[in-house]
Amino acid sequence: MAKITFITNDNETIVLEAASGSVMELAVEHNVKGIDGDCGGVCSCATCHVHVRPEDMEKTGSASEIETDMLELDDNADAYSRLSCQLEVSAILDGVVLKVAK
Ligand code: FES
Repeated sequence: MAKITFITNDNETIVLEAASGSVMELAVEHNVKGIDGDCGGVCSCATCHVHVRPEDMEKTGSASEIETDMLELDDNADAYSRLSCQLEVSAILDGVVLKVAK
């Protein structure tokens, strides 16, 4: 089980818990504003873009090559960017804080 915190662009803090699935699926299921998951999680839309809190990068790891290619098309991407469909929920992610990208 992992508790994951989302901070939306309205500065709303949403704490969700899950045991499996992707972080994008969790966010979409709970209508987290700004995470749409348009491509269904196949790393081809970037509508699930989040910024990982710097101290949580160790838990999430960094983006894969295909993910980085997708993020490069997004002007808001930075060193802490991840596509949340590529983040698998597991106990490792417990306590992670994600800011929804603009
Ligand atoms: Fe499309 Fe993540 S849902 S890239």
